[in-house]
Amino acid sequence: MKTFIICIQTLCGKITPVGFGSEEDRRFLEMWRERTNATLLGAGSLRAGDPEFRDTSGRIPEKRIRAIVTMSGRLPLEKNIFNRGPAPIVFCAQDVSDSLRRHLGGRAEIVAVRKRGDNELDLSQVSAILQDKGVNSLLVEGGGRLNYFCLKQGIVDEILVTVAPKLLTSNRETPLVDGDQNLGSPFLDLEFISCKCHPKTGELFLRYKVIKGKNSG
Ligand SMILES: NC(=O)c1ccc[n+]([C@@H]2O[C@H](COP(=O)([O-])OP(=O)(O)OC[C@H]3O[C@@H](n4cnc5c(N)ncnc54)[C@H](OP(=O)(O)O)[C@@H]3O)[C@@H](O)[C@H]2O)c1
Repeated sequence: MKTFIICIQTLCGKITPVGFGSEEDRRFLEMWRERTNATLLGAGSLRAGDPEFRDTSGRIPEKRIRAIVTMSGRLPLEKNIFNRGPAPIVFCAQDVSDSLRRHLGGRAEIVAVRKRGDNELDLSQVSAILQDKGVNSLLVEGGGRLNYFCLKQGIVDEILVTVAPKLLTSNRETPLVDGDQNLGSPFLDLEFISCKCHPKTGELFLRYKVIKGKNSG
């Protein structure tokens, strides 16, 4: 299984407030949905927006998996993902799985996975379950907390990041990787794969490989 994080960030590394990407970036994201068999999303991003995970033709593909990770089980029923397209998979801990099943009815497949500590699920198990369902390439569509857990647990192979020519001052916005521990010592090293510039929008489309098993001091 190959796993990609995809996101757009400001020049200062923030991924919110959302909506600052160009049409070009939107198409890039949709193209990557077509190149992968599944999307994984953090529950925070679902609560903050209403993503449907459409492709370049504007459709919600019937066969592509849309999956959400939650620890709290707080998932608003009125979100489009539960009402349009194939039912998503919700990964959660055992202790909230029954109440989530009752809450969501048949609108999602609820899959309980083991915890790693108090506030994170084992994402390797999530990957393995997706792989058993035929997924060989997974697109992690954020947000910052999920990106952090995926990198910390070592399941990410590549990062696809669009850098938008924007700066902002607020410390309240979400960074690309939002966690409380360093991912390396202190850096997690990345290896350059490619860079494409879109001169009209000033956006850079960067692709990096995550170097696993080596911490940078
Ligand atoms: N610019 C971009 O490309 C981009 C992309 C995506 C999202 N965003 C934005 O980012 C913001 C959300 O980011 P965020 O960091 O606050 O939230 P997030 O990463 O979307 O979601 C965090 C939540 O997901 C669940 N979660 C994530 N990893 C988990 C794990 N390993 N085990 C168990 N649960 C896990 C937890 O849900 P519970 O709270 O339910 O326990 C956690 O609180 C939104 O505003 C969104 O629009 C921007």
